[in-house]
Amino acid sequence: MCGIVGYASTISTACGKPLEVCLQGLERLEYRGYDSAGVALAAPGMDQVAVRKKAGRLANLQADINNRPLPDATVGIGHTRWATNGEPSDVNAHPHTSQDGRIALIHNGIIENASRLKFDLQAEGFTFASSTDTEVVAKLLGRIANEIVDTTGRPDLFEAVRRTARMLTGAFTILAVDVRQPDIVVGARHDSPLVVGLGEGENFLGSDVAAFVAYTKQAMELGQDEAVCVSGGSVTVTDFEGHPVTDSRRFTVDWDASAALKGGWDSYMDKEIHEDPRAVADTLLGRYDTDGDLNLDEVRIDEETFRQVDKIIIVACGTASYAGLVAKYAIEHWVRIPVEVELAHEFRYRDPILTPRTLVVAISQSGETMDTLMALRHAREQGSRVLAICNTQGSTIPRESDAVLYTHAGPEIAVASTKAFVAQVVAAYLLGLYLAQVKGTMFRDEIHQIVDSLKAMPAKIQQVLDSQADTVERAAKSLADARSFLFLGRHVGYPVAMEGALKLKEIAYTFTEGFAAGELKHGPIALVEAGEPVVVIVPSSRGRDLLHNKVISAIEEVKARGAFVIAIAEEGDPDTERYADVVFWRPACPTLMSPLVDVVPLQLFALDMARLKGLDVDKPRNLAKSVTVE
Ligand code: F6R
Repeated sequence: MCGIVGYASTISTACGKPLEVCLQGLERLEYRGYDSAGVALAAPGMDQVAVRKKAGRLANLQADINNRPLPDATVGIGHTRWATNGEPSDVNAHPHTSQDGRIALIHNGIIENASRLKFDLQAEGFTFASSTDTEVVAKLLGRIANEIVDTTGRPDLFEAVRRTARMLTGAFTILAVDVRQPDIVVGARHDSPLVVGLGEGENFLGSDVAAFVAYTKQAMELGQDEAVCVSGGSVTVTDFEGHPVTDSRRFTVDWDASAALKGGWDSYMDKEIHEDPRAVADTLLGRYDTDGDLNLDEVRIDEETFRQVDKIIIVACGTASYAGLVAKYAIEHWVRIPVEVELAHEFRYRDPILTPRTLVVAISQSGETMDTLMALRHAREQGSRVLAICNTQGSTIPRESDAVLYTHAGPEIAVASTKAFVAQVVAAYLLGLYLAQVKGTMFRDEIHQIVDSLKAMPAKIQQVLDSQADTVERAAKSLADARSFLFLGRHVGYPVAMEGALKLKEIAYTFTEGFAAGELKHGPIALVEAGEPVVVIVPSSRGRDLLHNKVISAIEEVKARGAFVIAIAEEGDPDTERYADVVFWRPACPTLMSPLVDVVPLQLFALDMARLKGLDVDKPRNLAKSVTVE
């Protein structure tokens, strides 16, 4: 939520680069929030920071700047907002400024003691234009910065930011610039993301690496409760007390700037769905040796510890939790230990049973979801080990976990998660197979067979993309006006049904419900009336005949009540052909692999439905890509 970018260079003559970097960073970060956007620039000789901000999409800000150009500068900060505090409007947009206008500040998160601080500042005569917590921090920072000037005779924005950070409760990343020090940008973070981009004669700050990857791939993580001061030639990190931090981890961004561009596709979502095969292939890469044995040395937990694991709890939200639910079926089957899947926001409030032998697996595309972060912290406090399955280098969840298994899906920009889902399923499967290997719960050749099945999946997903897109589009056209949808599945088809339902509701704004097909007669069938669209995931009849027959019965039951059935079924399934109105065909594959292909037409279906309704598929209303507040 909220995208943040900052830029400083060694060039002491003001120029257009700080604005260019901020706008281009915001363009790449817009998926984090798109209620409003703004920039602030500082340069030697300015009395006040130059601020421009506009409600709505970044394009509004860009148009405004084109009409009334901003001055050249030496440093800049930029912000794209997902409103938590105060409605989306010009005045509530960031940056906010100090009372004297010398300092500008941007913020991601929620300041919980903002009302108290505001009350105190008002008592001192400060006035407020917006209804945001951020303006409170800006005013507070301005006051502290001036106090430092009064007592020491010189400005010290770094110290002022640290003192301010010590007074805040809640979650925050703040970045600030001060016209009295127009060569630095200062940041601080607590429970909210911030990474440093390391350039040649220039340095960057960003909510994530997308903010600066067009300029540098060298990056540095910032730890919890750390402050950073960047100029063109230096990066200094301290804790909030001012003690130097010298062990910040550096890393090289493993994707190219072009990976975060649309590359000729109409939308990021379309592009990312078409990257499903690659996300699966890349997540498998390097995880098994030439004999087919799993090799997860990278996760940094020794084999003996894995051997001791007697329970897994997967914590995640939304799509990531459905990937976890798919993995539960596989891991329990392969490793013979219980796997619980818990929505991260429910987890720590229910006193879960955690022991040193419990492995908690936190699944997160962004690596910043606050609910998941809080769940993993709780698990670690209780003495359990946490392994993160994550798609974003340098993010908080892997940094705070004992181990990490990265999904190599590449940057996912569309708000609706697609390729990350298939990559998460693959990563969780690899973890399950690795556990089976070290615990000896499966024969080596069984494991090799499953690895081979996984290796075959990218081609099968591609086959679905190539062969089913037209059928999916036709179905979407015929159902574009449907007011609601039901999604049914059993076994691994159940989480896929829920994922399909989630995609449709979040980007096409259609009421959907995904549930286990077995539940149908326990209530949901009452919703079925003539013409009601019901999407059913039909398992293969090979090896799972009973399951297949039961799902076919469910289709018959809803058909008998007039439902319009869209089925996803294995090529050549005569039962499905007989009963369903439309079928999205899946190539034959083992049942546990089927979620990797079954989700694909559902992703396409949601995309087509949203397009037909003329909606912005990449930026659905009210949502943001990284949910960094609880
Ligand atoms: C749905 C979607 C969300 C996320 C959820 C978790 O399309 O994107 O449901 O899956 O917010 O996000 P991460 O994986 O970043 O923790």
